Amino acid sequence: MKRDQSAALFTANSRLIPGGTVSLNRKVEPLIAFARGKGASLWDVDGNRYTDYHAGFAPYLLGHADPEVEAAVMQSMQEGWTLAGSGTTPWEGRAADLLCQCVPNLEQVQFATTGSEATYHALRLSRAFTGKDHVAVMQGGYNGWHDEVACNVMTPLGAIGPRISRGEYPFIPMSAGMPEGVENRVHVLNFNDLEAVEWAFSTYPVACLISEPILQNIGIVKPKPGYWEGVRELCDRYGVVWVMDEVKTGFRHHIGGYQSLAGLKPDLSVFGKAIANGYPLGAIGGKAEIMELFNHPEPAKRVMIAGTYNGHPIVMAAAIATMEKLLRDGAEIYPRLERLGARMEAGLSAIFAERGVTATVARQGSAFCAYFMDHAPVDWHDIAENHDMAFDVKYRTALIEKGVYHFPLPTKQGSVSAAHTEDDIDQTLSATKVVLREIMA
Ligand SMILES: Cc1ncc(COP(=O)(O)O)c(C=O)c1O
Repeated sequence: MKRDQSAALFTANSRLIPGGTVSLNRKVEPLIAFARGKGASLWDVDGNRYTDYHAGFAPYLLGHADPEVEAAVMQSMQEGWTLAGSGTTPWEGRAADLLCQCVPNLEQVQFATTGSEATYHALRLSRAFTGKDHVAVMQGGYNGWHDEVACNVMTPLGAIGPRISRGEYPFIPMSAGMPEGVENRVHVLNFNDLEAVEWAFSTYPVACLISEPILQNIGIVKPKPGYWEGVRELCDRYGVVWVMDEVKTGFRHHIGGYQSLAGLKPDLSVFGKAIANGYPLGAIGGKAEIMELFNHPEPAKRVMIAGTYNGHPIVMAAAIATMEKLLRDGAEIYPRLERLGARMEAGLSAIFAERGVTATVARQGSAFCAYFMDHAPVDWHDIAENHDMAFDVKYRTALIEKGVYHFPLPTKQGSVSAAHTEDDIDQTLSATKVVLREIMA
């Protein structure tokens, strides 16, 4: 594929933007400048078309530029919905109502602009509620870019050592510039390991445990049966707030989030991404006794929530349209996503077997990840020890050249959207066959 315009744009943008892009995790080879998305397709500035499985790190559940969501956004602008920055609005009430309808576990909700803001608020609420300071996170989990959660995702094993249950991994920050002492309050635990959770809760004054219910920033790492039920029990026993980070799982696997699918009851939950089908929204919700701290009558006990763009009308319009569509058509959309995901899983598994590639396709509904190892992983150590990372990158990069866009870093989750068709999946499978033949030659 020719990408002269992409290269030129990266060079031009690099003059004023450090690194040439506004989110530096997007700076991956091949360097591509994307211009347009519609349905299951992306186009770059050179006019190349890709069937998209990255979905901008997963928000586009309904596909790019879903007509109903776009119409609602346009209508909000035509009707002059505004953000006065004062008082409330009808649409934030409507969005809250819909979110609580979708996720029955939520008694109250609040809105911010990003998933990271929502997880930040979850930490503050938990500390204010428990009077404790420490936080438990998972090795291999991602919960946003702020201090205390921006750590230990795809950490080299050389930095964290062997798998450990009665103990924690060293805190490996993903950013320079964090204040000293963060590492003393954050405990990075082995996923799928109740002994590690109990060890942390009995050793430190832990305010909250925050985790994705399925680790979807290292592919698809599912909880073992009984793991989350055990975490619930330990949180109750030790007075720890359980924060379920549903920024990636929420609305993708079930309209009520993974918690509804699995019958789980976290204390707080955070949402983002698919809730507004690609418009910038973060949401936090859960038990009223915790959420009410945002409105505590005593200022010293009140948890601050503010944000010039919280409840922005365009974003609220997108969220309302997305949730209304999922409430109306979810009975058709979710089974369809499951069928498309299953078609991808079965097709990829057959192709890998046919070509003699050791691989396991892990999947939850429309989200999937091909691991080049002989079993589905249970935690980050399992992946780091067994997954062929170099082959994964080669595979993704070769697919991109055939017009199939997966994020070209190892273990990044693929997302099928409601706009994908069976034909899209079949064409992707055909491209996969060609790519494997080429890279194994
Ligand atoms: C599970 C999870 N939590 C939180 C976040 C942060 O969301 P945002 O990028 O909107 O700040 C992400 C982003 O990828 C995520 O995957």
